[in-house]
Amino acid sequence: MTGRDDGTFLNVARLHAGYRAGRVLHGVDLGVAEGEICAILGPNGAGKTTLLRALCGMIRTEGVLRLAGADLPRRRPEAVARLGVAHVPEGRGTFAPLTVEENLRLGAYTRRGRTRIAADIDRVYGYFPVLKERRAQAAGSLSGGEQQMVAIGRALMSRPRLILLDEPSLGLAPLVTRELFHIVKTVNEEERTTVILVEQNAHLTLEFAHRAHVLETGRIVLSGSAQEIRDDEQTARAYLGIGVG
Ligand SMILES: Nc1ncnc2c1ncn2[C@@H]1O[C@H](COP(=O)(O)OP(=O)(O)O)[C@@H](O)[C@H]1O
Ligand SMILES: [Mg+2]
Repeated sequence: MTGRDDGTFLNVARLHAGYRAGRVLHGVDLGVAEGEICAILGPNGAGKTTLLRALCGMIRTEGVLRLAGADLPRRRPEAVARLGVAHVPEGRGTFAPLTVEENLRLGAYTRRGRTRIAADIDRVYGYFPVLKERRAQAAGSLSGGEQQMVAIGRALMSRPRLILLDEPSLGLAPLVTRELFHIVKTVNEEERTTVILVEQNAHLTLEFAHRAHVLETGRIVLSGSAQEIRDDEQTARAYLGIGVG
């Protein structure tokens, strides 16, 4: 099939996935428009990380997984990465003994050409000036927020069309998280990179996302624009345990 599945950039339907120990996702339906920041909210253990692993080909899946009208390869993370999907896993996955710049270079592994790689390193430093100052430092010696910047910067090195961020705020102070989300928003606006932002911190995430979906025990139980979800205080309380406004 060609074309775009009704204009939906990422199309997930009846997605089932899990582990040997048991199924975690029970028929997830999710549509993400190109250029959107899509938040996936939900409590610990809901299956948010599993959903990102399913998208990027790390685990066995059943159901529809389509990007820009083409089926995503199953169980072949490198092939998914080559299609422009970059995954920033939980816990960041930076290489602590390597320098900031070496970590960024690792993100360019799907691409060739020294000049373009150098230009992309500069582009990442443009978004994260502090990383330029720390370019020769071991990533492991940076603050948590800076390490998250390295992880996101490394993902940007592949010039992704879709970036999957798994709880980037984990362990960061609210102000640091806010700064990070601002940069993600800037990247999204300047490069039209589609972003799936998995978070437990609903309040702050809803400030930056365009749309949000709440995942509970492997099912999407609520979807709407970030504005709608923020404005509906009862909904926010019921599903997210937050008071809004
Ligand atoms: N590698 C794994 N092997 C087996 N079970 C797992 C694995 N990773 C997660 N799980 C289980 O899957 C469920 C959902 O986990 P996860 O996707 O990490 O949720 P979330 O990211 O929303 O906190 C949990 O019950 C968790 O114990
Ligand atoms: Mg998780």
